[in-house]
Amino acid sequence: MNFQLTEEHLAVQEAAREFAQSELLPGVIARDTEAKFPQEQIKKMGELGFMGMMVDPKYNGGGMDTVSYVIAMEELSKIDASASVSMSVNNSLVCWGLEKYGSEAQKQKYLTRLTSGEVLGAFCLSEPEAGSDATSQKTSAALEGDHYILNGTKNWITNGSSASIYLVIAQTDASLGHKGISVFIVEKGWEGFDIGKKEDKLGIRGSDTHSLMFTDVKVPVENRIAEEGFGFTFAMETLNGGRIGIAAQALGIAAGAYELALAYSKERKSFGKPISQHQAIQFKLADMATQIEAARLLVYKAAWLKDQKEDYAHASAMAKLYASEVAMNVTIEAVQVHGGYGYVKEYHVERLMRDAKITQIYEGTSEIQRIVISRRILK
Ligand code: CAA
Ligand code: FAD
Repeated sequence: MNFQLTEEHLAVQEAAREFAQSELLPGVIARDTEAKFPQEQIKKMGELGFMGMMVDPKYNGGGMDTVSYVIAMEELSKIDASASVSMSVNNSLVCWGLEKYGSEAQKQKYLTRLTSGEVLGAFCLSEPEAGSDATSQKTSAALEGDHYILNGTKNWITNGSSASIYLVIAQTDASLGHKGISVFIVEKGWEGFDIGKKEDKLGIRGSDTHSLMFTDVKVPVENRIAEEGFGFTFAMETLNGGRIGIAAQALGIAAGAYELALAYSKERKSFGKPISQHQAIQFKLADMATQIEAARLLVYKAAWLKDQKEDYAHASAMAKLYASEVAMNVTIEAVQVHGGYGYVKEYHVERLMRDAKITQIYEGTSEIQRIVISRRILK
């Protein structure tokens, strides 16, 4: 067993840390206040190779392992979780599935542009009446000659308006239940494809979350990924990896808040000494550091299992469940360590606390992760 990061991992960490400080930190408070999508920052992330980190270089990807990816996600999420969710969706929900199950023509046409950062991708599973209960979705795709006719509404779609390429999960045969669900590549601008208004959210306010409406959208047969009926398995397998990305995001939010609380506790004085010399604050910091370390081990282990080509579904659910709970606990405590200053935007921790909440909800709520874990334990 070896807990040491390689030279390559350390280089990725350094590059991500430097990018987060120089490019994401300036303006992060204003972007949150104005709910402004980090367009320029994401463009630069694409140029630096953060948007297709694990994809084969022959499709313009970085050819890196999942451990490198989670290290980068952690560093960027310490500063800006709105930017890092775009990165997570593009890498693990869009590029991964296209590379693993897409045809060569689909990879040449779409994947090469997604990895280079030229365009962004979105993953469209959730619907107004089908979130956790993903098999009960209603969006339909009916085969008519050489194309499908797509109808329905998807909700809560990250990169909803900024994406150009959408992976849409839809029913091709409702009588078959989850075995009648397929997955399609849909392009922005196709007739009948409309984007709803941006959601006004508690956290990750820069991220553009939209509902999408499909009315008789013609999708060529060659844009179906894999065979008919593979869509639900595609979604579940994709989410197994996606949850590692969100777990790393949660870890980063927690670690970012902890670092700010630690530094502040050494500067702020009360009763004649830095608050870090009060045992109540020391114990909070000790608990935060311990929880973060435990979360990091779970996140790295899930990433490592994926790199070893071992089963990682269970480990990714555990990492996401635990890291997101830690993100919530640690950010609440970081606000407490800052006292009144923690309650205002300037000190960053209130934003991190609001951002932390979403990690317990998307890519499967904490309750759904417990279902995934307990089913495996009891099998
Ligand atoms: N990996 C692989 N396959 C899986 C799987 C997993 N983790 N979980 C289920 N499956 C397979 C099952 O094996 C089964 O296939 P077979 O019939 O071929 O054996 C099939 O899927 C159906 O499984 P279940 O009978 O267990 O289905 P269910 O209806 O009881 O629910 C569920 C399963 C785990 C609750 C699932 O619906 C789920 O994960 N729900 C949460 C949805 C979710 O995570 N949405 C995220 C949207 S994307 C997003 O949120 C992005 C973002 O924010 C940035
Ligand atoms: P529901 O499923 O209605 O759940 C409500 C509550 O009931 C939750 O607490 C849930 O845990 C609980 N619950 C439900 N069923 C059970 C059960 N069987 N046992 C115990 N408890 C249960 N989706 C996408 O497809 N693509 C995206 O890019 C995307 N991005 C998102 C971005 C944001 C900001 C948000 C808020 C959501 C996003 N989602 C996305 C959707 C997200 O995945 C869903 O919100 C999530 O899966 C929960 O679904 P729901 O909101 O319908 O809640």
